[in-house]
Amino acid sequence: MGAELAIRNLHVKVEGNEILTGVDLTVRAGEVHSLMGPNGSGKSTLAYILMGHPAYEVDEGEVLLDGENILELEPDERARKGLFLAFQYPTPIPGVSVADFLRTAVSSIRLGPSEEGRTTELIPMREFRKEIRERMTELDIDHSFARRHLNDGFSGGEKKRAEILQMSLLKPRIAVLDETDSGLDIDALRAVADGVNRQLSSELGVLLITHYQRILNYIEPNFVHIMVDGRIVQSGGPELAHELEAKGYDMVKDLV
Ligand SMILES: Nc1ncnc2c1ncn2[C@@H]1O[C@H](COP(=O)(O)OP(=O)(O)OP(=O)(O)O)[C@@H](O)[C@H]1O
Ligand SMILES: [Mg+2]
Repeated sequence: MGAELAIRNLHVKVEGNEILTGVDLTVRAGEVHSLMGPNGSGKSTLAYILMGHPAYEVDEGEVLLDGENILELEPDERARKGLFLAFQYPTPIPGVSVADFLRTAVSSIRLGPSEEGRTTELIPMREFRKEIRERMTELDIDHSFARRHLNDGFSGGEKKRAEILQMSLLKPRIAVLDETDSGLDIDALRAVADGVNRQLSSELGVLLITHYQRILNYIEPNFVHIMVDGRIVQSGGPELAHELEAKGYDMVKDLV
């Protein structure tokens, strides 16, 4: 069955301030939704709450994945249910290679969590190496990349490619991509968009957070939503992104 992520009347507080003020949004497998909105409108907050970031507090509302409320689940349990989040600002982990990190992450999703006193079971090295090489070739990533330390000294474009590589290995059912296009040159944007497009299927739903219409030329959304002051004030088709590009956020000012 295709996944369905349903966000209902979601209110979220950060350090006492209400940041999300009633978000309603449903993303189904096979759909690409683009979420746009001015700086500070709450887009990343929504992404973080979906993944279970501890600093964010849900005041009201629910988030259902296939009808099950996921707000009580730990981040790794959400990931195991098929939720994937690519962060706007990925964290460097010096000392851990890309390959080691991905092998651990993918093993924990596929083979189950590590139990108390026992380290995570790992996918056999040979099998994983073959798989990661195939994915890197598809994404036009140099194979030496796998030996580098995760996000340590990575360029903006390399970080984004690493995330799309991770997504291609984890094969999520719902992916939330927060500004996957920011800081990318034209070739990298195309490579990242191709990487996402290659994964699009009737089994995957995507929530693509972005500021610019440009990436939507490559990853075509079915729906575009505009968030202002912590809620979605307008939804439409791809034409809404073009209209926004032409008119700016003045066009939704009166809707707030
Ligand atoms: N940990 C935090 N502590 C205090 N305020 C926070 C925290 N996280 C987010 N905020 C505030 O919440 C609001 C929404 O931030 P958020 O990062 O969700 O916006 P955004 O829409 O992703 O913006 P951008 O387009 O700039 O990425 C901002 O005013 C921000 O300062
Ligand atoms: Mg953001």
